[in-house]
Parts: sequence; C-alpha cells; structure tokens
Amino acid sequence: VLVTCGAVCALFIIHAALLGPGDHLLVETPNYATNLETPKAMADAGVRMTQWRLHAAAGYRLDVPAFCAEITKETKLVSVTSPHNPTGAILREPELRAIIAAVKERGHPDCRLLVDETYREMVVPAAAESASVDAGGPGAGTLAEAARGDVGAAATSAALGALPTLTPWAATLDPCVISVSSMSKTWGLPGLRIGWITTLDAGLQYTLLAAKEQIAISGSVIDEEIAAHVLSRRAELLPAVLADIAVRKQTVLDWLAANADVIECTPPEGGVVCFPHIRSPLVDAASFNDRLFADSSTIVGAGHWFEVSDRHFRLGFGWPTHEQLAAGLESIARVLRTMAAEAARTA
Ligand SMILES: Cc1ncc(COP(=O)(O)O)c(C=O)c1O
Repeated sequence: VLVTCGAVCALFIIHAALLGPGDHLLVETPNYATNLETPKAMADAGVRMTQWRLHAAAGYRLDVPAFCAEITKETKLVSVTSPHNPTGAILREPELRAIIAAVKERGHPDCRLLVDETYREMVVPAAAESASVDAGGPGAGTLAEAARGDVGAAATSAALGALPTLTPWAATLDPCVISVSSMSKTWGLPGLRIGWITTLDAGLQYTLLAAKEQIAISGSVIDEEIAAHVLSRRAELLPAVLADIAVRKQTVLDWLAANADVIECTPPEGGVVCFPHIRSPLVDAASFNDRLFADSSTIVGAGHWFEVSDRHFRLGFGWPTHEQLAAGLESIARVLRTMAAEAARTA
C-alpha cells in the first residue's frame, strides 16, 4: 500500500508513471474528471485514449465483452471506477475477473487494470431493504459483513445481477490490478488528503513510489497519523456510517419515485452519487443550475462536467445534513416543475 495525497494524487501518479509515447488507455466515460483529464493532458506526449461510453439506457452498466474487445497489444492501462462516479453503478466480481482475463490475454505484456474504488465500502441496500438483508435475504449480509470487514464472505454472496454487495479489494484479485481509494468518502475526511494505491506487484509499487517522490516526496505525517487513528477504529465506526448511507439512499429513492414525472434516473447501486436526467424537453437545461442555486443555494454537478448535456446532473447525497438533503431534493423538483410550467406558458 502506497499512501498518497488523496485518491486524486494516486490517479495522477498511476497515469504519469505508466503511460508514455505510443501507449493506449481504455477508460470508461462519464467518469471522475481526473481519470479522463490527466490522460487527456498526455495526448501531446503520444498517449492514445479510448473513452468507452456508458449509456443511461443500459443503466450505465459496462458491456464487459464489448469493452474488453477494445483492448489491444498497445493497451497499457484499462481504467474503471466502481462504484461509479457519477452513476453509482457497480462492477460485480465476475465482471472484474473477466476484465482481468482480457487485460492479460489481449493487452500489452505490462498492461494493468486500474480500479478506482474510492466509494468501495459505501455499498449498502437502501434502508427499506436492509432489514431483509441483515436477516439473510437476497445478497445477504451486506451491511453486517461490511461492518465486520468480512470482505470474503460478502464477496461470495455476490452474483451478477443480484443485490450489490462488497467486492474484494480489486488489487487482491491479481497482480495486474491497481486499486485506488482514500479517506474522503466512506470516512468523510476529504480535508485530510490521504489516499492510497494498492498492488500485489512489488516492482510496480517501486515504480509508483519513485513517481510519488517526484510529485510530492511525502504526504503530511499529521494527516497520516489522524487517518491511521480513524482506520484503527474501523470496526467501531463503520456500522454507523453504513446505516447513515442506507437512510440517505432511501431518501433519494423515495424522492425519485415521487418525482418520476420530472426526473428519470437509474437507481444508484453503491456510493453516494447518482446521475438523474431531466425529463421535460421544455426545461432550459442551460439555466437549471443557476435557477436551483437561486432557489435554495442547492448545488448539483452539471452534466457538462461529465461530457454530456446539462439535462443530466450529478446528485451527491453523502455530504449534506439530512435536513439539507431533503430541502435540496425538494428544491430540485420544485425548480424543474416551475421551469417546465413557465416554458409551457410561453411556448
Ligand atoms: C471516483 C473518485 N475518485 C477519486 C476521487 C478523489 O478523491 P480524494 O478526495 O481522495 O482525492 C474522487 C472524489 O470525488 C472520486 O469521486
């Protein structure tokens, strides 16, 4: 495990250290910006990039065989994010294993699979489902197993299509895999700037350490000490975190159901973000974000951040208080209805 200045620095280190002239990268789109912008900035250095688009119509699920067919002997890095930002889609363990097999069979001999699993532990059923899950229902044990840190047990109950459960840390699946995570999401400590890169490959770890030295020398030892203290209390702290996420997820699912006339959205499987779509063609998407902010100081992630139209937006439900979340959701629905009604009057 190589400690870095947040997951964002981990991603920068990996792209900078592993990609060079003539190399090819295959990466999902939309995505967390660094997974796209860092390699894009390397185009002048001769890095070629294939952005594989995920589609709302497919629930933002990765078409694994088609994705893997894009891997060639020039491919040095394959990059996925799970749970996914901005959609909350999760790659199941069999899907990860299929990608690993393709990386080894089809890629450059040094090809690696980067799994940005910054949201990994935030995989819980919504509050309404968790009672049956804790009692051994479908996808049994997600909350309880995650809280115990019992990764193996959680993983074996994962089957493609079933209620999502924790997958193993991706780096434990094969030495060609690189996992990235941080203190920012599950632990709610983005200001600590502590993340990490995990790999079973000691030679690769050495290369990444050398890159870290060029970029940052070391992280803040004070941040590292605080992070170590929090992680040492993992078993004590995690159940409350997961229970809180389950309630937030339920709030969002209820809101989506109640506002299906103005919003459509693939329900998030994991993480604390989802990617709704504005239904009414009458709503002027370009002014939606400003209207929303004027209405209630609510901020969502604009679609163009993710290289799609502003008719999409990222909804983050992990950070605000429960009251702020409820008020923000109410505001989104109100503003969309008002804008649609105004547009209908002037049409
Ligand atoms: C998928 C993903 N990866 C990486 C990061 C960067 O996280 P950090 O705050 O640890 O740098 C984020 C932050 O939003 C993220 O969503």
